[in-house]
Amino acid sequence: MLVAVASDHGGFALKEKVKEYLRERGDKIVDLGTTSEESVDYPIYGKACAEAVASGKAERGIVCCGTGIGISIAANKVKGIRCGLCTSVEMAELTRKHNNANMLAMGGRTTDPDLAMEIVKAFMDTEFEGGRHKRRTDMLDEM
Ligand code: RB5
Repeated sequence: MLVAVASDHGGFALKEKVKEYLRERGDKIVDLGTTSEESVDYPIYGKACAEAVASGKAERGIVCCGTGIGISIAANKVKGIRCGLCTSVEMAELTRKHNNANMLAMGGRTTDPDLAMEIVKAFMDTEFEGGRHKRRTDMLDEM
C-alpha cells in the first residue's frame, strides 16, 4: 500500500520508526516531513498528509505529533479524511472496522514505540465492516 506519513518535531522519532516498519512490510512511503526535531507547527504537516490521502496520491496516512491530538485535528479538517487517534490496538482495529479511517494519528510522547508498531499493523491490516457503519461514515463525509 502507498502510505503518506508526516509529523511535527514531537512525533518525528515515531514517524521515522513507522517508516522503517512500513518498509519492512513492503509498503511504499511518501514522507511529507518534518525532517528533524527542530520545532515546527503540526497543522502544516497534518494538512499536507491529509491532502495527499484526500486527493488519492496516497491510500492511507499516518501522522504523529507529541500527543497525536493536534495533528489529528488538523487532518480531520480536510474533507474526505477520517483520522483516528489511537492509543491501543483495539482502537486501531475499531477505527478501521467502524470508521473506515483512512488516517491514523499517534503520539510520539505518549505511546510506547513498540505498541505504536502494533497499532500501525492493526490499522494497516484491518478491513472496514461496512453495513450500518457505511451509513455513518457517509454522514461524516457529507459534513
Ligand atoms: C508540540 O510541542 C506539541 O504541542 C505537539 O506535538 C502536539 O502534541 C500537539 O497536539
